[in-house]
Amino acid sequence: MSVTLPTDLPALLNDCSTGFALPRPFYTRADIYEHDIAAYWNQSWIWVGHVCQIPDAGDYFLFDYAQESLIITRDRTGNVRAYLNICRHRGSRVCTEAAGNTRLFVCPYHAWSYDLNGQLRGGRDMGPDFDPSAYGLFEAHLRVFDGLIFVCPGETAPEIDPGLDRLRPLTAPFGLENLRIAHSASYPVPANWKLAVENYMECYHCAPSHKEYSRSHSLKDPASMTDELLGAMRDRARAAGLPDEILSLPETGDTGMNFYYRRYPLYPGYETGSHAGAPLAPLLGTLGGYDGGATDLQIGILNNFLIYSDHVVGYRFIPRGLQETDIQVVWYVRGDAEAGRDYDRDALTWLWHVTSLDDERIIRINQQGVNAHRFVPGPLSQMEWGVQSFYDNYLSTIGRSVS
Ligand code: FES
Ligand code: FE
Repeated sequence: MSVTLPTDLPALLNDCSTGFALPRPFYTRADIYEHDIAAYWNQSWIWVGHVCQIPDAGDYFLFDYAQESLIITRDRTGNVRAYLNICRHRGSRVCTEAAGNTRLFVCPYHAWSYDLNGQLRGGRDMGPDFDPSAYGLFEAHLRVFDGLIFVCPGETAPEIDPGLDRLRPLTAPFGLENLRIAHSASYPVPANWKLAVENYMECYHCAPSHKEYSRSHSLKDPASMTDELLGAMRDRARAAGLPDEILSLPETGDTGMNFYYRRYPLYPGYETGSHAGAPLAPLLGTLGGYDGGATDLQIGILNNFLIYSDHVVGYRFIPRGLQETDIQVVWYVRGDAEAGRDYDRDALTWLWHVTSLDDERIIRINQQGVNAHRFVPGPLSQMEWGVQSFYDNYLSTIGRSVS
């Protein structure tokens, strides 16, 4: 599908300055939003879920963003597959149940049916010359990394494998393929999706806006991350079986996807991201103990995870409209952990629930200020380098022609 570039996009791109926030049209114009979906979201790798959601053949779930819908399923041979949820007859959504198990996806409109391989099994009264093999569901690009499912809905997908290969030894000890969902929540915010992403990309706001997080996480203040604190955590991390490495891609001169892995210390007394520091759930993977650390993990700009020793929190920011975004949060624990026995759901979710409520508020009022007539983009702080990475990736991607 060709996408019309907003005619003044070159001028708008020209108005963007490195080290400054984006100009207002990027957050307020419907044509830019449409272009964002076509040129950025549809061409990006999106974290849609985890294999624990579809353990058996025929299990499926839907993943929606903007006007798009994807069917994620497991076929008869055990492979995870992703299809665009669009009937090849006259375009109806094929699947309308959020999750389930099926042998066939039957379109509710005229009952064209598709098997788990996306092949059309037959169309009623289509005549002798009709060739069902030409009308299978469109398949999306898919990767399963440590059990996490990533999908790129576009015809071509950015290169992801070299980054995943670099990341694999770092995440291996956490056993992310063996997780279960303890809880998921959505926090709708009346703001453009980019303001939500930007908010997650920086911890400049953490000290003033996240009282609970700032009690335990040294990322809120670079000066508090002393050599002593860092060194003690690294010793414990090595003893627990974690590699001592930071991964930050793309490297200079490289134009690939953004990957980030860095473990940073919690303050003394905190073994995990809990109210008073006590463990929340069984240790993940092969970890041999608590190191009092947390990993910031990014797999592409849109997909962010925080890995503690005993649970994982996934974050994504799903566009629903020009100024409508869902902050989606998923809490994972080890696959064999049972609610009530091995973890308390309220205790587990407390920190990132209160923090997400804070984020909803600050993102909402950010959009309100940006909408007002005298907004001009101000300079980024040294702690907002992640926001600049997002801008670099976003602006270079939307500036390309889309086919
Ligand atoms: Fe799906 Fe007609 S639109 S069968
Ligand atoms: Fe925040």
